[in-house]
Amino acid sequence: MSRALATSTPRQQHPLPAGLDPARLPSHVAVIMDGNGRWARRRGLPRVMGHREGVEALKRTLRLCSDWGVGALTAYAFSTENWNRPGEEVNFLMALFERVLEREIEGLEREQVRISFLGDLEPLPHRLQHLIADATVRTAGNGGIRFNVCTNYGGRAELVRAARRLAERAARGELDPASIDEGCFAAELHTAGQLDPDLLIRTSGEQRISNFLLWQLAYAELHITEVLWPDFNAEALLSALLDYQNRQRRFGGVDPAC
Ligand code: FPP
Repeated sequence: MSRALATSTPRQQHPLPAGLDPARLPSHVAVIMDGNGRWARRRGLPRVMGHREGVEALKRTLRLCSDWGVGALTAYAFSTENWNRPGEEVNFLMALFERVLEREIEGLEREQVRISFLGDLEPLPHRLQHLIADATVRTAGNGGIRFNVCTNYGGRAELVRAARRLAERAARGELDPASIDEGCFAAELHTAGQLDPDLLIRTSGEQRISNFLLWQLAYAELHITEVLWPDFNAEALLSALLDYQNRQRRFGGVDPAC
């Protein structure tokens, strides 16, 4: 398979492309990595080969975001609905996550990436859970880009979990229901303590949120591209970031120029 994230010699950094304003980069980019299956089918390959190539696109995107100064990248790797895929594909994905984690952990450490896995991790294979716990602990003190991998993640499940946790605290008498506000709700989400994504990129042209970060994407700018995820590269990321920098973000207010 492919090269690991870092080699023993320091890797070449990608310079910030001309035309991109470093002061107006999104702090947090989220991606729905769609189109792996179609990418494979168009080449007459099994669907899973698209997932394998999708890992390369994810590594590319992580490095580019890190080099260009994006503070956090959150990727939708496996949704709560993805268990409904054929067993063979689910097993391939779980084994792929394990292989990638094993292979990349040293590179992630060296490149100061702080990795977290968001979602209900308990139903995952034990070996994968162990690798996730190890990678999380080993990179927890890193000061580089935050890399969130949403695994067995569902936005609705996350909201229900937060509501249940608050209700439990209220039932124990630790929390006055009247004091529940957006801040304490957000603190019960998997993303507690992190900034919300400023930009959501979805590949392969689908115009859906698909149960991804339902709370956190409230004010995100959306960039939908026809590019299939395995083909997502520097040019595609640049085009998403330029699109973002052309938006007027009003957060429900008005444009002061109008
Ligand atoms: C959606 O494409 C993609 C996925 C469900 C899997 C994405 C996972 C990876 C790229 C691997 C990430 C690995 C790690 C360890 C972070 P699709 O299969 O729905 O494509 P289609 O819509 O063309 O069928």
